[in-house]
Amino acid sequence: MRSNGSTVEDYFSDKLTSQLPLGFEVFRQASDQFQKTRISLAPLEATLLQTLVKAHGGTKWVEIGTLTGFSGYCISQASKGHLWTFEKDPAHAARARELFRDQNLHDRITVVEGDASQTLASIVGEGPFDGLFIDGNKGAYGEYLQWALKNLRPGGMIIADNVYLGGAIWGEAQGSHWSASVVQRMREFLTVLFDPNLFTASVAPTSEGLAIAIKK
Ligand SMILES: C[S@@+](CC[C@H](N)C(=O)[O-])C[C@H]1O[C@@H](n2cnc3c(N)ncnc32)[C@H](O)[C@@H]1O
Repeated sequence: MRSNGSTVEDYFSDKLTSQLPLGFEVFRQASDQFQKTRISLAPLEATLLQTLVKAHGGTKWVEIGTLTGFSGYCISQASKGHLWTFEKDPAHAARARELFRDQNLHDRITVVEGDASQTLASIVGEGPFDGLFIDGNKGAYGEYLQWALKNLRPGGMIIADNVYLGGAIWGEAQGSHWSASVVQRMREFLTVLFDPNLFTASVAPTSEGLAIAIKK
């Protein structure tokens, strides 16, 4: 995520960054080597993610969109269990693996390389899972949700970043870089996520929109 420069974000980032696990900076610096820090969670969002993971209490988490491991590191420190994290880009996956190894987390975090739409099937035998954090390709959030419906236990948590699509989701941001098809698919994803028969759900109004749901 990117800060929108608002005072509220700056104020609470200053106050809360010390909540993040020791050594988190190396993961953000690594994303900078790919010029991708902009799409990594902001530290303030990461404090929300880790608080949710800790409050939930589950130990088997899945993440779509590793990048260089910042959010995965926060999840693993908050859950103290196992994390399976999915990354399409081989260079991102390799760097994340290296950094997890440096932190001695290689036996608690499995980086699965490839398109998550294909590779998620490879871990089904490890389930049912306690939680899923979605922060990958926006057009496939609905597919990941269908996977979660089958493979998360009742009471499992889903957290999904960027659901505002820069405002395109409610019709602002004309000319945004999100295609009409991605916007439509994200709306369909939210329709399922907000179905009260399936989930107890809400959205935390971060600058990007963080959807949170508990499977019924
Ligand atoms: C927004 S970044 C993730 C940021 C990361 N969660 C963090 O906070 O540091 C999205 C990542 O998803 C990866 N990605 C894109 N499409 C994917 C797919 N189909 N399967 C798995 N990963 C994908 C991208 O290569 C990128 O590294």
